[in-house]
Amino acid sequence: MSETIRRPVLYSAVQPSGTLTLGNYIGALRNFKLLEKDYDCLFCMADLHALTVRQEPAALRRRTAEVAALYIACGLDPEKSIIYAQSHVPQHAELAWILNCFTYMGELSRMTQFKDKSARHADNINAGLFTYPVLMAADILLYQANVVPVGADQKQHLEICRDIANRFNGIYGNVLTVPEPYIAKSAAARIMSLNDPTSKMSKSGEPDSFISMVDDADTIRRKIRRAVTDSDGEIRVDPENKPGVTNLITICAAMRGCTADEVCALLAGKGYGALKDYAAESIIEVLSPIQEEYKRLVADKAYLNDVLKNGAERASGLAMRTLRKVYKKVGLYQL
Ligand code: TYM
Repeated sequence: MSETIRRPVLYSAVQPSGTLTLGNYIGALRNFKLLEKDYDCLFCMADLHALTVRQEPAALRRRTAEVAALYIACGLDPEKSIIYAQSHVPQHAELAWILNCFTYMGELSRMTQFKDKSARHADNINAGLFTYPVLMAADILLYQANVVPVGADQKQHLEICRDIANRFNGIYGNVLTVPEPYIAKSAAARIMSLNDPTSKMSKSGEPDSFISMVDDADTIRRKIRRAVTDSDGEIRVDPENKPGVTNLITICAAMRGCTADEVCALLAGKGYGALKDYAAESIIEVLSPIQEEYKRLVADKAYLNDVLKNGAERASGLAMRTLRKVYKKVGLYQL
């Protein structure tokens, strides 16, 4: 049966390029579950995007299924939402090609992620890294998505996606839905690295710079205990002068579902040791049940395979509708 869309469409994706971090959870995954009840959702494992940096093939394959398991362990329902791998729906690459022809070199050269990644992988500045945002625009526009929940680091990519959609619609009429970003206003949209709190927490960072979503309790305690703070000793929010402490407060607030001020009031007069203990226990409390469910799911390969197969079929049906329209509009010969 072909997929029917009844509600506004939500789209998001994660690259299966490493173990997912607490940053991915706070900036993206935890919001997915909250939004699932109001939208028709697609959650993708962006495996084609992951190829822009060299991957170990067996690890990439394994992580693609692991991210699906994490989505479900975080509470997403694969019967309701479409959970699938990007490479299983060839229309992503097809639309990306068309959109490449509507995207300028100048705008791609301004992308900060491209600049960062080319600096970090100077020996592999490939064309895929450059056109990464175009494939991301194709992901979103294929499903006529209305909202895209992401962390703050993806803001620029969403802006270029909107520009491409508007440009295309300006020429061919209203073909593509222009999506709205859904990015938390608070610092939770950008969780920082534990050992360098001036840069974002990333799955490609040093092992001690991030909490993995599957780290055990002792590892979490150890990593948080080592997190960089400052010598001032006061627990307060001050991203400029106290980025490490501010980051720990942000993490506590996100895990406890309260405000940063409430965290500061609770810990007033206590030292950084107390802040770190509170942060570690808060993370463990949230991640433990997710990890338990995750372990059960990754062991069930047949189930995950079914989820991916079903997801790919449902996504393809929707993607085909947009791609057909686009092909027709741009003048490709229809059989
Ligand atoms: P990726 O895999 O780097 O990250 C997945 C999601 O996690 C968010 N995130 C963070 N949020 C807060 N603090 C952090 N330190 C942090 N690190 C990561 C990201 O903003 C993202 O929401 N290009 C995307 C994947 C993608 C995509 C898409 C997203 C491909 N196609 C279409 C949305 C729509 C990426 O690399 O995410």
